[in-house]
Amino acid sequence: MEKLQPLSGRIALVTGASRGIGAALSVALAERGAHVVAVARSMDGLRQVRETIGAAGGTATIVPLDLADPDAIARLATTIEGRHGKLDILVGNAGIPGPNVAVEHAKPADWAEVLAINLTANWHLIRCMHPLLKRSDAGRAVFMSSSAVRQARADRGIYAVSKAGLESLVRAYAATNLGTSLCINLFNPGPVRTQMRRTVAPHEDPMSLDTPQHCAEKLVELCLPGFKDTGKLYDYPMRGYIEFAKPSVPA
Ligand SMILES: NC(=O)c1ccc[n+]([C@@H]2O[C@H](COP(=O)([O-])OP(=O)(O)OC[C@H]3O[C@@H](n4cnc5c(N)ncnc54)[C@H](OP(=O)(O)O)[C@@H]3O)[C@@H](O)[C@H]2O)c1
Repeated sequence: MEKLQPLSGRIALVTGASRGIGAALSVALAERGAHVVAVARSMDGLRQVRETIGAAGGTATIVPLDLADPDAIARLATTIEGRHGKLDILVGNAGIPGPNVAVEHAKPADWAEVLAINLTANWHLIRCMHPLLKRSDAGRAVFMSSSAVRQARADRGIYAVSKAGLESLVRAYAATNLGTSLCINLFNPGPVRTQMRRTVAPHEDPMSLDTPQHCAEKLVELCLPGFKDTGKLYDYPMRGYIEFAKPSVPA
């Protein structure tokens, strides 16, 4: 059955769109009428996503891009501005797990790469895409966090640091845009059946996990013009918001 098209005429940028949650979200957004700008490094994965979207009657532009390259992110913003003049939806979904290693034994190169992709690239996306999101009548931005932030697992420290930094970045971004038409939120998918999860938990039965498609259905809701919350962290396993602990003395 054809889905309703509440995103008709809207432009959505999804990073990490070549597989996993980003690929499923790209398809789900396109099914609701959005034109999806799908970003990742792997052309094969991106082509497959474009084919799936096209077969369902939707449209997508695929952009092979390494998010470690800030100049490429800036060029992408210029291209979107030239073609569409605005951006309605930004989903900072791309992420890497990094190695399972104690922080005291991790290599500087691992630290640098995980922070570059999971944190710094999202700052560049915010910096470069913000003027375009402001041109939308209902700009929506969502960034992917993780339970790792609150779990403090011994071997997942660098990843947890990158996502904790992302949470602070996104909450600050939301705070500076309170009272505007922009809604900016975080999303924790929890364990989902993807390549990343297989890397992090190789002994787990993937069939016991929720699918990227189910997770994407919820993510789409945070991208709709009618979605009005901002500065929140939606926890998918809990199906609700996580409360941020307040400091005992305001800073
Ligand atoms: N799956 C889970 O259980 C889970 C749990 C908590 C949080 N998350 C978060 O959810 C998000 C999506 O995860 P996933 O499980 O769907 O992961 P995934 O299947 O491994 O997909 C990751 C995506 O990020 C892209 N990517 C990685 N490095 C990149 C780079 N340098 N430049 C551009 N794109 C890059 C990959 O594309 P290319 O390799 O083609 O570049 C791929 O499309 C991540 O932020 C992750 O931290 C996932």
